Amino acid sequence: MYPHHPCSHLDALHAPLVPILRLALTQPGLSNVQLALDVACGPGLKSAWLLDVLHATGRVVGVDLDRTALRTAAQTHDQVPCDWVAGDALALPLRTGCADLAWCIAALGLFANPLRALHELRRVLRPGGTILIATGEQSWARIRSWPTDLGQLLTQAYAHALASGAMPVLPGDGLGDELCHQLTTVGFRAIHVRAFALPPAVPATPLDPYHAELALCAWPDLRTRIAPLLPPAAILRCDELAATDSEPDLAPVLLLATATA
Ligand SMILES: C[S@@+](CC[C@H](N)C(=O)[O-])C[C@H]1O[C@@H](n2cnc3c(N)ncnc32)[C@H](O)[C@@H]1O
Repeated sequence: MYPHHPCSHLDALHAPLVPILRLALTQPGLSNVQLALDVACGPGLKSAWLLDVLHATGRVVGVDLDRTALRTAAQTHDQVPCDWVAGDALALPLRTGCADLAWCIAALGLFANPLRALHELRRVLRPGGTILIATGEQSWARIRSWPTDLGQLLTQAYAHALASGAMPVLPGDGLGDELCHQLTTVGFRAIHVRAFALPPAVPATPLDPYHAELALCAWPDLRTRIAPLLPPAAILRCDELAATDSEPDLAPVLLLATATA
């Protein structure tokens, strides 16, 4: 997911991002899926995750241009209900409205025409089906480094608020706006894009999704939702820190989008 990395060594490269990527599959209402697509599945490293939301009789279909990667996927997933199809994300070899869920990880930015790919994803989803996209990019963003004690408190409050359904909070600095616009353009609705700050180098340990997300949230938006969960002294310190916000800088960011067809 780190931008500009080749597809080799994906498992090592993506390992620290697994907690963030798996968040996408925990959204309410995502269960009993009959047909889940993994578009640009590569060697299928994340295809089997889709089994978590699959109906007992459901299937996963992985699509990729790379036949060698598909052969690896087939060899490593011979015990699970997955099919592997060679095809182009810009012209999916699938029936209109056939899928309940389409998952496209670390690939949208590689497609020659991302809008065309989103159009195709929308086409193959049934009305009411769900799209999940994760894509890395370099973006102009303000990375907020909360002091450790405050960061822990904020992370807990944020996770608690998310779990109780009080969120989502929009990412700061307009992050995800373009993806949101593209999804709207091809006809998706109920679009939500979350943004996560990635360290400049691949970290050795898994990232805490809430911590990474908080680093990109604009405090005024966040404040209105989680202030009731924080002690007044913590809110005051956040207010003070937010008042010293720096200018945006280019940083690696992971966008996680969900939307309904
Ligand atoms: C970075 S890898 C991601 C693989 C997998 N989604 C994952 O996260 O482990 C990108 C994949 O996109 C595939 N790809 C690139 N362009 C494609 C296209 N137009 N149609 C289908 N697959 C494509 C590549 O072959 C490669 O397997």
